[in-house]
Amino acid sequence: MSQPIENQKQQVNFTLNGREVGGSAEPRKLLSDFLRQEMALTGVHVSCEHGICGCCTVRIDGKAVRACLTLAVQVDGRRVDTVESLAHAGELSDLQKAFRKHHGLQCGYCTPGILMSVEAFLEISPKPNEEEIRDMLGGHICRCTGYTGMVRAIKEVVEQRNEPVPLIEV
Ligand code: FES
Ligand code: FES
Repeated sequence: MSQPIENQKQQVNFTLNGREVGGSAEPRKLLSDFLRQEMALTGVHVSCEHGICGCCTVRIDGKAVRACLTLAVQVDGRRVDTVESLAHAGELSDLQKAFRKHHGLQCGYCTPGILMSVEAFLEISPKPNEEEIRDMLGGHICRCTGYTGMVRAIKEVVEQRNEPVPLIEV
C-alpha cells in the first residue's frame, strides 16, 4: 500500500539568499513551487513550467537554473539565490537600476529570471559583446519589451563593472 503523501515528505536544508533554511517537500515538488509556497519568495515567477520561458530562473551554487525543471529535494545542501537576493537594505542592485533606467521591463513578469541569468552570465563572461548579450537573452521569453532596453542596461552595467578603480594617492 502506498504511503500517504504527508509521510513521503523529505527534509530539505539549504542556503537561501545567504541564510540557512530548512523545510520539507514531497519528492515530486518543484523547486519553483517550493520557493513560492513554502519560502514565500514570490519573486520566483512561473509561466510555462516546461523550461522554455526562463521566468523561474534562480541560481543554484551560482549557476542559472530553471526552478520549474528542478525538484525541491535536489537543493538539499546547496546554495540557492533568487531575485530577492539582489537588493540590499532597500537599495536596488546596479543591474536592477540599469533595467529601470533603460526600460528593460514593462510588466516585469520575465524580469526576475532574466536578472538572475544575467548575473550568472556576467560572472562567467564579465566583458561580453552585444552579440553574446543577445545570445544569452535568447534563453528568455519577454512578451513586452523587445529586449532593446535590456541590452542597453546590460551593456551599461558591463561598462560600469569594468571601469578601472581609481588609484588613491597617500
Ligand atoms: S516557468 Fe520555468 S522556464 Fe518557464
Ligand atoms: S516585461 Fe513583460 S514579459 Fe518581459
